[in-house]
Amino acid sequence: MGIPTSILVLFALLFLAELELCSTRSNLSCIESEREALVKFKESLTDTSNRLSSWVGEDCCTWNEVGCSNKTGHVLKLDQRIGIPEFLGSLRSLRYLNLSSTGFEGMVPHHLGNLSSLMYLDLGSRTLDYSNIFTVDSLWWASALSSLKYLNLDKVMLREATDWLDAINMLPSLSELSLVDCELGGIPPLSRVNITSLTSLDLQGNNIDSIPLWLSNVSRLVNLRVNYNLFQGSVPDTIGKLTSLTFLDLSMN
Ligand SMILES: *[C@@H]1O[C@H](CO)[C@@H](O)[C@H](O)[C@H]1NC(C)=O
Ligand SMILES: *[C@@H]1O[C@H](CO)[C@@H](O)[C@H](O)[C@H]1NC(C)=O
Ligand SMILES: *[C@@H]1O[C@H](CO)[C@@H](O)[C@H](O)[C@H]1NC(C)=O
Ligand SMILES: *[C@@H]1O[C@H](CO)[C@@H](O)[C@H](O)[C@H]1NC(C)=O
Ligand SMILES: *[C@@H]1O[C@H](CO)[C@@H](O)[C@H](O)[C@H]1NC(C)=O
Ligand SMILES: *[C@@H]1O[C@H](CO)[C@@H](O)[C@H](O)[C@H]1NC(C)=O
Repeated sequence: MGIPTSILVLFALLFLAELELCSTRSNLSCIESEREALVKFKESLTDTSNRLSSWVGEDCCTWNEVGCSNKTGHVLKLDQRIGIPEFLGSLRSLRYLNLSSTGFEGMVPHHLGNLSSLMYLDLGSRTLDYSNIFTVDSLWWASALSSLKYLNLDKVMLREATDWLDAINMLPSLSELSLVDCELGGIPPLSRVNITSLTSLDLQGNNIDSIPLWLSNVSRLVNLRVNYNLFQGSVPDTIGKLTSLTFLDLSMN
């Protein structure tokens, strides 16, 4: 399968990006090897919305969502509206996946749940604006990532994903979890705490107004950030029971 090569080229293209684009480019045609990579990439996608239907013909620089340098003809940018390709889920041995600044956006495909060797998954956004780059409708696929140690979903829209905590509670190896600005709206109850390896939890900016009792069972917790939420009154007893805690941020509540 040519897929891994095309994906590598694609990522190389995406990392090259962020430079100026040609709105007034000349009749220079695109680089053939890059055109081939884009075609392979397109073939690997299920382009249900037909957004890539313009991806035909020789000059890939005229295709929608593709931007080339008007000096060199190199593809400099793929438009941000390209979703995470589902076939990433077939790279079953993948241990590390970081799509945090790669230019993908949209709904996160449930196929990522096939990556059972994954130890690090970073879909978090580090931009300062408030827009959500990724959306998750249900996080249940993540419950299959049994090797996961690190999960960052900062600014991923989880409002619809009401199963987020049940899914995450299926990850006994998880030690770092970051869910900043995910529109969680609260922390659901749990009947049995499985995430006992968790040492770092960041829930900033989620309109949370109370800390559930079950959190005191996450006994190895060292870092807890719950700033920028809606807590009022005294510090809950639950936090006092976290005997390993060395860092606590309750500010801006
Ligand atoms: C493209 O070429 C034009 C003139 O040929 C130049 O003015 C412009 O800066 C170049 N870059 C972009 C992004 O248009
Ligand atoms: C680009 O097109 C213009 C006319 O549209 C032509 O004069 C010029 O020779 C072309 N340049 C190349 C490199 O083909
Ligand atoms: C993912 O990439 C971003 C941007 O390059 C970086 O800041 C972040 O630390 C990476 N995440 C992991 C888990 O390595
Ligand atoms: C991966 O996951 C999706 C959705 O969860 C599933 O439909 C697909 O058959 C799985 N297998 C492979 C090899 O991608
Ligand atoms: C805890 O994890 C086990 C598997 O490790 C799972 O069977 C069980 O449903 C989980 N409990 C909850 C409350 O999610
Ligand atoms: C928390 O730990 C206590 C003592 O081990 C146990 O009895 C209780 O069921 C646990 N609660 C949850 C929600 O896991």
